[in-house]
Amino acid sequence: MPSRFLLLAFCFGFETLARSRATGLSRLTARISEPGNMGQAMLNDEIRLKVGLGDRSYAIIIRDGLLTGVGADLADLGSARRYAVVADDRVAGLFATALLAGLKQAGVRVELLTFPHGETSKNMTTISQLASDLARLGWDRGDGLIALGGGVSGDITGFLASIYMRGIPFVQVPTTLLAQVDSSVGGKTGVDIPEGKNLLGSFYQPRRVYIDPGVLASLPPHEMRNGLAEVIKYGVIYDGDFFGQLKQRRESILARDRQALATVIARCCAIKAEVVAADEREADSRRILNFGHTLGHAVEAASDYTLAHGAAVAIGMATVAEIAVAKGLWSREDAENLRGLIEAYGLPTQVPPELDRQRIKAYLKTDKKCVVGRPFFVLPLAIGKVTISDEVDERLIDQALAG
Ligand SMILES: NC(=O)c1ccc[n+]([C@@H]2O[C@H](COP(=O)([O-])OP(=O)(O)OC[C@H]3O[C@@H](n4cnc5c(N)ncnc54)[C@H](O)[C@@H]3O)[C@@H](O)[C@H]2O)c1
Ligand SMILES: [Zn+2]
Repeated sequence: MPSRFLLLAFCFGFETLARSRATGLSRLTARISEPGNMGQAMLNDEIRLKVGLGDRSYAIIIRDGLLTGVGADLADLGSARRYAVVADDRVAGLFATALLAGLKQAGVRVELLTFPHGETSKNMTTISQLASDLARLGWDRGDGLIALGGGVSGDITGFLASIYMRGIPFVQVPTTLLAQVDSSVGGKTGVDIPEGKNLLGSFYQPRRVYIDPGVLASLPPHEMRNGLAEVIKYGVIYDGDFFGQLKQRRESILARDRQALATVIARCCAIKAEVVAADEREADSRRILNFGHTLGHAVEAASDYTLAHGAAVAIGMATVAEIAVAKGLWSREDAENLRGLIEAYGLPTQVPPELDRQRIKAYLKTDKKCVVGRPFFVLPLAIGKVTISDEVDERLIDQALAG
């Protein structure tokens, strides 16, 4: 079948990238000038990428209208005898009918399990309720899960899949931009506990990721912006050409042109796939994905989570840009360029004046990724190239937070 042949061709393309297996940041940053070429991977309107992780490798499939086609592909994949679709109540109302119809048409046996939407559901109570549902349905190690929805559903379902009967297969069907460009790829799963976000979790890779850019049509604008902050992040950390194209194609991206979205999502997934293949468990180079997040998480927490994640990350990126300029690592011109792009996508760049700076700094020191109380920062060296450093003077942080 020609499509299979082409899939192989793409796999080989990505295999080559994966085989370069950078072990440290320098090898990864050396690859940063790989062309952004947003449209390069378009293929009969279907884009296939591969996350190269040896026997845990998997494909990411991106196609407009794919939601109804998941069944046919899943039937071919043959990872499980039957699947339970796990979705929040909102997402289930929007997309479960179409997804389930396609699955049933392809002869895939399926059940639907739901939980209330929102981050507050991302906890062990939901996990244990869903596990009980599975047990009552007689789910065993030959059965699988489908995570349908945003990052909350992806994280819950992936975590459940990793621990139910010591591990069952799962696939991702992400429906927010944030989930399509970030959380559905890379195998981080988990839930929150009252003491902090994502403190319980596992690394557990999906068997496949199915991305339909068309489902983003119903996504509220503030949820869209959460994903756009991550999209800009990829440009800064990895691909200057892509950054430039985000500037050029802003209007069609914001208008949610499906072709434009598909190519943006594909480039982000390709970058994440390469970063994850080089350092699956975030021992070193995967940390570049935290650009804007060290400060962003602190700002988000200091706002008592009234600031959305995307807004906090946007502020984090703009603030850390000032730190990089003050350290003499980055040019003022590039920092302004980044600030301009963030604002062009409707995201903030200033720490809100009402936020207590001391509280932000206190959160920085308790970040779970700190090593002995020292936060690390991902600092830009050029657009498309970053370095990781824990050598940032408190004075520079104060200065950047002062705005
Ligand atoms: N595992 C990872 O690598 C990773 C990475 C980043 C973030 N995350 C996690 O992801 C979570 C945030 O994900 P999120 O922003 O997708 O939140 P979410 O899953 O709560 O989705 C946001 C809202 O959008 C609704 N929604 C989803 N798709 C929709 C659509 N197509 N149309 C209309 N409404 C839709 C949902 O019902 C929900 O109310 C956080 O818990 C975060 O910790 C995980
Ligand atoms: Zn993020």
